[in-house]
Amino acid sequence: MSERDLMHYEIEPGIVIKTENAAKPESQSSTFLKLLLADLPHVSSSVDFGCGKLRYCDAILEKTDSLAVVDSEIQLSREQILNGTKSTIRDIIDRSNRIRIFNDVEFANLHEYFDRAFCINVLSAIPVIARRRQVMEVIRSHLRPKGACLYAVEYRNSDFNRMRSMPNARPWEDGFLIDSLRGFSFYGLIPPDYLVSMAKRAGFSICDMRCNEGSVYVWAHRA
Ligand SMILES: C[S@@+](CC[C@H](N)C(=O)[O-])C[C@H]1O[C@@H](n2cnc3c(N)ncnc32)[C@H](O)[C@@H]1O
Repeated sequence: MSERDLMHYEIEPGIVIKTENAAKPESQSSTFLKLLLADLPHVSSSVDFGCGKLRYCDAILEKTDSLAVVDSEIQLSREQILNGTKSTIRDIIDRSNRIRIFNDVEFANLHEYFDRAFCINVLSAIPVIARRRQVMEVIRSHLRPKGACLYAVEYRNSDFNRMRSMPNARPWEDGFLIDSLRGFSFYGLIPPDYLVSMAKRAGFSICDMRCNEGSVYVWAHRA
């Protein structure tokens, strides 16, 4: 498997989950999360881990001097429709002098520490439990001693109920797989208490948890 394919999770022979396809555009962002972001105190440095299509990038940037965005190389360098125009995440970030871009391997090797991290709807897109833990550990290892990460996952909505009862759906780990013309998709359903215990196991201490419309938001401090 090449470096470009690391976020293609082969969970069984022939069943590959391409997590870059799970990212949603800014037009589908959460009002609750945007209000939560708008309420944060300003910090010096932040990282958006699993930035996807940069859905929350502008809102995060409002509250930080500098921002690092991290995702798989394939997500960062493939051409896709972003804000209505065909482009790449790398091209968009090149135009900013406050944002830097790292693929997951570059970030893991980066010797730099951040005040704040965001990991929004990333863990629930990963179908391999051990890889979720690695993600939490790599984020924690890049936080300053008083740094914190906001973990968010959507664990309940009416679409999930409909999709998981479709004939092309089947259970996988804590969620379900859908087999469609575009290939396999995975939706992990991580309940609030499980997200909290995952963060604790990765070495974080929990300072706040909020639930809204089937999503959970956990602030986890580098303990
Ligand atoms: C559902 S999308 C969420 C994107 C964005 N955070 C948002 O809320 O719009 C999940 C993202 O996580 C990325 N991803 C999956 N596994 C990852 C990993 N191990 N390291 C970094 N990014 C990862 C995928 O490429 C994808 O862009």
